[in-house]
Amino acid sequence: MARYNDLDMNNWKEYDDILTDSLWIFDKRDKSGVHNASYHGNFIPQIPNQLFRRYTKKGDWILDPFVGGGTSLIEAQRLSRNAIGIELQEDVAKIAHDLVKQEKTKDFKGTIIVGDSRVVNIEERLKCFGISKVQFVIYHPPYWDIIKYSDVMYSASDVQKQYGYDPKQSDLSRIREWDDFVKAMNYAMMKQFTALEKGGRMAVLMGDIKKQGKLYSMLAEIIKPGTLENIIIKAQHNCFSDQTRYSGNFIPILHEYVMIVRKDDPLIYPIIAAKTYKADIRDMPGAVWRDVVAAVMEQCDGAVPLSYLYEQIESHQKAKKNRWWKEKIRQTLQCNPAHFRHTDRGMWTLNRNTA
Ligand SMILES: C[S@@+](CC[C@H](N)C(=O)[O-])C[C@H]1O[C@@H](n2cnc3c(N)ncnc32)[C@H](O)[C@@H]1O
Repeated sequence: MARYNDLDMNNWKEYDDILTDSLWIFDKRDKSGVHNASYHGNFIPQIPNQLFRRYTKKGDWILDPFVGGGTSLIEAQRLSRNAIGIELQEDVAKIAHDLVKQEKTKDFKGTIIVGDSRVVNIEERLKCFGISKVQFVIYHPPYWDIIKYSDVMYSASDVQKQYGYDPKQSDLSRIREWDDFVKAMNYAMMKQFTALEKGGRMAVLMGDIKKQGKLYSMLAEIIKPGTLENIIIKAQHNCFSDQTRYSGNFIPILHEYVMIVRKDDPLIYPIIAAKTYKADIRDMPGAVWRDVVAAVMEQCDGAVPLSYLYEQIESHQKAKKNRWWKEKIRQTLQCNPAHFRHTDRGMWTLNRNTA
């Protein structure tokens, strides 16, 4: 197998600063050189550092489609890798560009493109450097709307005046609906994945979001192209959740994920994509009669006539698959006194504490 890093993998235990397990805990941020924490939402430099050393070699090309403060480009050049970044906000990209320039090490090649990473023609940009593909993609998108990026550091109207575009329009952190955010992310993920060469990896740092008692899981719902190689848990000390309303069962999120996928075949690759289904218990193969009847009754406030139960179940698989389905409903009611109570002629109710 072709080498994809400069480490001696036969002696990996010798590298005491390379993390080899699936739990990453960093006690403090690397603030050396030009690295700083001033860009809200930037990742700590140790993340790109670990990933680049583990998955790339000196001279390799790295793509970061969400550059922000430029952490990954700074780290790439420190490690003698080359890097191309994309950032939506021109002013943010400028700051990153200046930092990268200050850090500038000999022989570093790279650039930061201002634009929407879903639209930028990466292949065209790579051509300017005489390459057609990259060896690694590092991906640190907004965690939906938990941190809003455009119209925060720089007013969107000033950007519009100065540069002629409204950054809010293409900012992933400004997408209102979760499903639309997932769609936008999936589109971007597939696009960036095509820029990888065979054997290359894409690492995505992402977090789950809790809002009003519901978990929105980037890890579960964002598309996974290629071979899923690793999921690393990174301890996180700022919770990605709306902390203003605490209910008793609130579990603060104290971790992020680094998901690593590999491109084994440039032409045809597997894709893991989440789909949300709604299941009706009346059509579910494994559902027993007692649960089906109880579920129908649970929808109602008080006692219901048998005719209502027939009506609610008749058109569903549970009834269609049993020609004696009406008898089955009556038998279910009569044989489960702990669950169902006969209140009047033809009327039944649910014992709510046992059903
Ligand atoms: C989580 S931050 C990246 C932080 C970066 N890893 C760092 O260390 O500074 C996400 C960045 O994506 C940018 N962004 C949002 N939507 C974008 C889009 N459609 N195309 C490119 N960049 C976008 C935001 O402006 C923000 O700077």
